[in-house]
Amino acid sequence: MLERNLPGFSSSLGGAAKGVGKYCIFPLPDYVTDMALVCVEDFEKKAEAHLEKNALDYYRSGAGEQFTLGLNREAFRRLRLRPRCLRDVSRLDISCEIFGERMKWPLGIAPTAMQKMAHPDGEVGNARAAGKAGSIFILSTLSTTSLEDLAAGAPETIKWFQLYIYKDRTITEKLVRRAEKANFKALVLTIDAPIFGHRRADVRNNFSLPSHLTLANFQGIKATGVASSNMGASGINEYVSSQFDPTISWKDIAWLKSITHLPIVVKGVLTAEDAVLAREFGCAGIIVSNHGARQIDTVPASIEALPEVVRAVGDDLVVMLDGGIIQGNDIFKALALGAKTVFVGRPAVWGLAYNGQKGVEEMLSVLRKDFEITMALIGSQTLKDIQPSMVVHESQYAKL
Ligand code: LAC
Repeated sequence: MLERNLPGFSSSLGGAAKGVGKYCIFPLPDYVTDMALVCVEDFEKKAEAHLEKNALDYYRSGAGEQFTLGLNREAFRRLRLRPRCLRDVSRLDISCEIFGERMKWPLGIAPTAMQKMAHPDGEVGNARAAGKAGSIFILSTLSTTSLEDLAAGAPETIKWFQLYIYKDRTITEKLVRRAEKANFKALVLTIDAPIFGHRRADVRNNFSLPSHLTLANFQGIKATGVASSNMGASGINEYVSSQFDPTISWKDIAWLKSITHLPIVVKGVLTAEDAVLAREFGCAGIIVSNHGARQIDTVPASIEALPEVVRAVGDDLVVMLDGGIIQGNDIFKALALGAKTVFVGRPAVWGLAYNGQKGVEEMLSVLRKDFEITMALIGSQTLKDIQPSMVVHESQYAKL
């Protein structure tokens, strides 16, 4: 490799040590390699350089031909902002309250599985970063850190626990008890995964959890290790079909409600009909979500499904959203269309992969800053100032 030793230029070793410029004949100048990360895509690019293909494909894939994966972004672009001017935005207050808990801003971390595959800091690093940012952290059941270790490692963070319903209901019930004991504040039941979607890359890669990691919530339970062994088509799919109950129906929400006092949030609602059922069965909240476009392709983007859910139940339940949020104006659009808060999944994984807890902190601070800029430039001092009329579909303009 050619090396230049000019002032302001890093050596090739320096560049490689930082995980950048590895393939450059001429090492990149410091001002390029150390360039600030200014948007979530920058973190994604860094993460791509740090992750093994098995893990990277797992995190980034959507189902099928990944139409909805693109739509989760595209649908935000089809919405136009209508800013209001001359409204004194010298002081912003973007805090909010969800289930009695104060958040510094309306963004939390969505559950994503097996975060130690991204970085050894794993779920604890992610949750600590969330806590520092004043965000809720949702721990996945399929985590590489047990819920007790997470609670001990991130005591200051507001934590919710994501749950599936297992064929063996005692597994579910034990997880609920452990979540209550470890001070988790809500249960997030994923309702769009009676089976797992077809993620082509995972099948091609024969995806499996690296052997040094385990599904930490299942130590000593029969489920342990199923996903850590190499099991044909896709380890995670084998795990899911062996453990998750595809017979689950709304009556299981009634059962879950009967065994816990924690608020139940259903995640994966995309229709008004299911939103109405969630209300009927006593759920406290809904996350409008298409599971990061990982379950069934050609469903709507979450932001497209949000208005019908809000119209149906928005006065009665806390409606939230995940899917495709990567910048401040996305957060704003979701709030204007009626979400009380939003969640990001992949962006946190990218931050984690790039630089552990610090990487997530940095990603959240970039996103928060971007949201503040949006709030100020659209003329909203507080979340209450966000009006539905500030966001319209692009077709409104096409009509003119
Ligand atoms: C997934 C599950 C674990 O999407 O939520 O892979």
